Amino acid sequence: MTSVVHTSIKHDSAPKHVAGTARYIDDLPEPEGLLHAALHLSDRTRAKILSIDISAALALPGVVAAITVNDVPGDPDIAPVVRGEPMLAKGVVEFHGHPVVAIAAIDVATARRAARLVKVEYEDLPAILSIAEAIEKQSFLLPPLGLKRGDAAAAIAKAPHRLKGELNIGGQDHFYLEGQASLAEPREDGDVIVRCSTQHPSEVQKLIARVLDAPMHAVTVECRRMGGGFGGKETQAAQFACIAAVLARKTGRPVKLRLDRDEDMIITGKRHDFLSRYEVGFDTEGRILGYELTLAGRGGWAADLTGAVVDRAVFHADSSYWLPDVTITGLCCKTNTVSNTAFRGFGGPQGMATTEYVIDEIARYLGRDPLEVRLANLYGKDKNNVTPYFQTIADNILPELFDELLASSDYNARRQEIDAFNAQSQHLKKGLALTPVKFGISFTTTFLNQAGALVLVYEDGSVQLNHGGTEMGQGVYIKVAQVVAETFGISLDRIRITATRTDKVPNTSATAASAGADLNGKAAEHAALQIRDRLAVVAGAMLGVAPEQVVFASDKASAGGKSVAFAEVAHKAWLERVSLAASGFYATPDIHFDRATGRGRPFYYFAYGVAATEVLVDCFTGEYRFTRADLLHDCGNSLNPAIDLGQVEGGYLQGLGWLTMEELWWDDKGRLRTHAPSTYKIPTARDLPEDFRVQLVSGRPNPANSIFRSKAVGEPPLMLGISGWLALKDAVAAAAGAQMVHLDAPATPERVLLAIEAAKRATVAPAEVAAK
Ligand code: MTE
Ligand code: MOS
Repeated sequence: MTSVVHTSIKHDSAPKHVAGTARYIDDLPEPEGLLHAALHLSDRTRAKILSIDISAALALPGVVAAITVNDVPGDPDIAPVVRGEPMLAKGVVEFHGHPVVAIAAIDVATARRAARLVKVEYEDLPAILSIAEAIEKQSFLLPPLGLKRGDAAAAIAKAPHRLKGELNIGGQDHFYLEGQASLAEPREDGDVIVRCSTQHPSEVQKLIARVLDAPMHAVTVECRRMGGGFGGKETQAAQFACIAAVLARKTGRPVKLRLDRDEDMIITGKRHDFLSRYEVGFDTEGRILGYELTLAGRGGWAADLTGAVVDRAVFHADSSYWLPDVTITGLCCKTNTVSNTAFRGFGGPQGMATTEYVIDEIARYLGRDPLEVRLANLYGKDKNNVTPYFQTIADNILPELFDELLASSDYNARRQEIDAFNAQSQHLKKGLALTPVKFGISFTTTFLNQAGALVLVYEDGSVQLNHGGTEMGQGVYIKVAQVVAETFGISLDRIRITATRTDKVPNTSATAASAGADLNGKAAEHAALQIRDRLAVVAGAMLGVAPEQVVFASDKASAGGKSVAFAEVAHKAWLERVSLAASGFYATPDIHFDRATGRGRPFYYFAYGVAATEVLVDCFTGEYRFTRADLLHDCGNSLNPAIDLGQVEGGYLQGLGWLTMEELWWDDKGRLRTHAPSTYKIPTARDLPEDFRVQLVSGRPNPANSIFRSKAVGEPPLMLGISGWLALKDAVAAAAGAQMVHLDAPATPERVLLAIEAAKRATVAPAEVAAK
């Protein structure tokens, strides 16, 4: 039997992507009477709104409507978790770029011109712009999350060696190729259908219903695909969809709101930048004995998903290491900047990067290879394998992955070659680092781990598939289609994947936390199995065997050497009045977490990986090139190795971009000055390491009962990029001839150069508290 799962099948939209025929929101045929929307943004950092004058905007020919928050018919609060995020600024503006007024006009240019004619009078209020200031002023959005095991302070005090330090890790813009976009069309009875580039159609539906003061059944949200989401459309698509829906209600006409790139970057939240403060005690081998860590994430002006992002940072601050006595605290800092949001890894990368940095510091302090210190601290297989939240790591394959990558990347020999190169090369220096990834799979908010699907078999044997997962390029549509094809034993071309719609599957979760294929795959399998059981009865009668004997494969139902075509069985089932539709459901079993005690099993399983990256630095300019990277990543029994390989490559490069070249820069008034590709550099294909070797782990099915024993892959490989940043740190140390170096992220060429200079000048000893 040929298998459809575990096969490299191309992305279902790939030919359309290449031909330019894949439709995004702005490509949809424009409905009759369409209006275009634009936003007026605040030019203050934090201020009270004294008055808003929209008369000049309304007077512009072609302008049809202008709304403020007071024109919202229902509840204007569109916060996803805790309340406090009005659809447009209410009474105060909280950051530079806060949307205040929305305009609808007959074309985009008119709408944007009108938006600039709006006049707002303000009274400035004091603002908080940095994480450090927020901590100092106790400006927090939510209470902290704390994990604690043993007595970290006592363990640090007793330890033979101690280090204390601070690290800044920058944020990251999503830079999805398709910006935020929504198209709202009024229907009969006050209903509205909104096409939206969103990872979370059900939440967009709920919030539109809220702002329109309508029941959810009056709102349909559809998403055929996104031109990238990366977490940026998990919650933050809703604002623009709601504005379009309110304008459509007010004007009775369809309304489209598509942000341009600068506005998108100014208005929408990004990856949280973090300030990490640590103190660590360790022995002469570098084994961590006590660890105290505070992870402070910049939430920006509103909570959005910050609570869950900081939680995930805290959950991943163990990285891959056993921490016997440990205290980890996560702070949700409130500042007057954009409201930061989900971004691939969801806080996990920031937590993990911090501890990988600390391990590197320990190694340098002791004069050891960081690899040795990593291995000395690595979680064990049956001891030293309990996380700071008391989840036992049951399936630790990291020791094997380290062995495999050390061999395949020729690490030890190259380490020596690089040291030899650095000893004789004065102005070019190389660096090398090897880092692991262990990423927890499941939403840490347990109830979100649910999914639904709707499978329809037609009497000609063709199948329509719908589920709650949204397609953002990651391939969830093809993966779930593979699951359904496998279950029915039919070829993929019998299956039509349909756009994600809230009127087909209700109350879905965001496609996020890398769990899209896991959850929706299981839900679709559940639906398909119900229909297959019914078809087995029909086919059994046709073949003269018991239903249990019927096997579905190769587009046929077979038993005892006889077979009938799948289409014939479907047709016969219809004639016999057997239902060929089913909805499926899945809820991840066995997961729970108690925030109050900091204990539980928040993750169904872990996905693992290891990466070794080598870099070459020009010490005159700080510029660098990644010369080689070796990646080994675990997808269990991959549902689709071609898609997964793409996720590993793309994730790694996005992680590398975050930690090395993507720099968000706000001025002292809180204005984002990097809001276009001219000033904000994302990596391109040319930034890939010159010698790039990527392998998926093979022969290791997921021990958890996941869909066909695969593992989630969307986010985990991003953190393989940490190896590139620490390779730079290694090169900086070589360049400065210093033992200790400080290198915040992003390690841009400027920062690399400054780090080399600072390390050369450093007269002060390492930030050591008091070595024995
Ligand atoms: N890959 C592409 N091409 N585009 C994206 O927007 N988003 C990432 C990841 N891979 C993304 C991507 C993020 S943030 C997540 S959570 C997962 O895909 C979501 O999809 P999944 O759950 O189906 O893996
Ligand atoms: Mo991904 S950050 O969970 O959308």
